[in-house]
This record gives sequence, C-alpha cells and structure tokens, in this order.
Amino acid sequence: MKIAILGAMSDEIAPLLDKLQNYETVKYAKNEFYLAKYKNHDLVIAYSKIGKVNSTLTATLLIEKFKCEMLLFTGVAGALNEKLKIGDILYTTSTVQHDLDISAFGHPYGYVPGINVYEKTDDKLNEIAKIVAAKNGINLVGGVIASGDQFICDPVKKEWIKSTFDADAVEMEGASVGQVCATLDIPYFLMRAISDEANGGAEIDFDKFLEEVAQKSAKFVLGMVEYL
Ligand code: ADE
Repeated sequence: MKIAILGAMSDEIAPLLDKLQNYETVKYAKNEFYLAKYKNHDLVIAYSKIGKVNSTLTATLLIEKFKCEMLLFTGVAGALNEKLKIGDILYTTSTVQHDLDISAFGHPYGYVPGINVYEKTDDKLNEIAKIVAAKNGINLVGGVIASGDQFICDPVKKEWIKSTFDADAVEMEGASVGQVCATLDIPYFLMRAISDEANGGAEIDFDKFLEEVAQKSAKFVLGMVEYL
C-alpha cells in the first residue's frame, strides 16, 4: 500500500528519515517529498510547513499527485484537557476548526455550509493504534483536536476553545488535513504528542520539548505501519 506520513515541521518528520536512511527526495511545489520502502509498503513522507493552508496543499498533493491511499499525521500539540501532560501522546477521534467563524449569521463556530463541524478519523486505524500502544506499554488516550491558524498561549483563549468545542488539544493542521481526507475518501489517522499546555509561556515549553516529544509521535506512527 502507498502510505503518506505527514508532519507540519521538519522536526516532526526528521526522526522518520533518520530511521529509514534510504529514501529518494522528490522536489515539487516548493516542497520536498521523501519516498521510501518500509515493511512492504511504499511511504511518501513530507512536512507541510505550519498552518491549515500549507497542510491542505500538502495533503492534497500526497493523495492526488503521489497517489497515497492512506494518510498518517504525526506531530505535537498544546494540551487543553488538564489530564494531558507534556510528553503524553493522543490519537484523535475527531477534528474541528476553532477559528472558522460565521457565527454572525447564526451558525455554530467551526461551521460553514457544506462541511461538518467535526470530521472523524478512521476507526480501523485508531484500533491499530490501540493495539500498538498495548503491545509497547504506552498509555494512549483518544481526544478531539481543535485546529486553527494561531499558536495558543493564552489561558482565556485556551478555555474558550476547550469549552466551545469540547476539545482536548490544540494545533494548527489536523482539521484541514481531516477535511481533505474526508472529501477524497482517504483513511486518516492523527497522532499528537503534547509539547505544551497552551497557557502563558507555552512558546517556551514548545521550544524546549518539541524535538523530544515529536520523536515519540513519529516513532509510534512508524510502528503502526508494521500492522498495516
Ligand atoms: N502546537 C503545539 N502547541 C501548540 C499551541 N499551544 N497552539 C497551537 N499549536 C500548537
């Protein structure tokens, strides 16, 4: 099977390239796509650059140009749920765009006509993630990811996103990739390791923990490929 593995930042996919070592680099659309073989599968690995527009473009290219049949996203997120601590990993049950707002017309936050507010990830891939976690003694929790084009480092904004969308973690790409995959009928898995708590000072924790926690998520996702 041809599987896309996508991150937003180079740190989020670097552990994969380190592990695979043998890969071909294809330059396209001002980005690089890394083609490798792993456990009888063809992988296409890329980082999109931060944000919903960049991740939409790269996810679409992975599916339409590189013909990937499944997309696994790996990266980091800020915790909204107080039970999630730095270094924890979560798989995403559904995604929502917290900055999509036409509430002036009486619509709910996160909604525009023609889309769902929440987009579900793939049940089968989530089940595989649970198996991989159990085999490796990893405490894996499921949760809702809220995505928007803002780094959240403010307690008021954090509380608004958490309570409005009943979301567990916040980042900047998951929901856009979720919408691409849902629209093009591609199974989608989204894993995030917690790098900060989206409060004041989150940017300091993010810089401090990015590399370490991104590695956890990437390693987990590559481990899942063995079960596909
Ligand atoms: N990714 C990691 N931490 C984040 C935060 N606090 N806000 C948005 N995206 C993030």
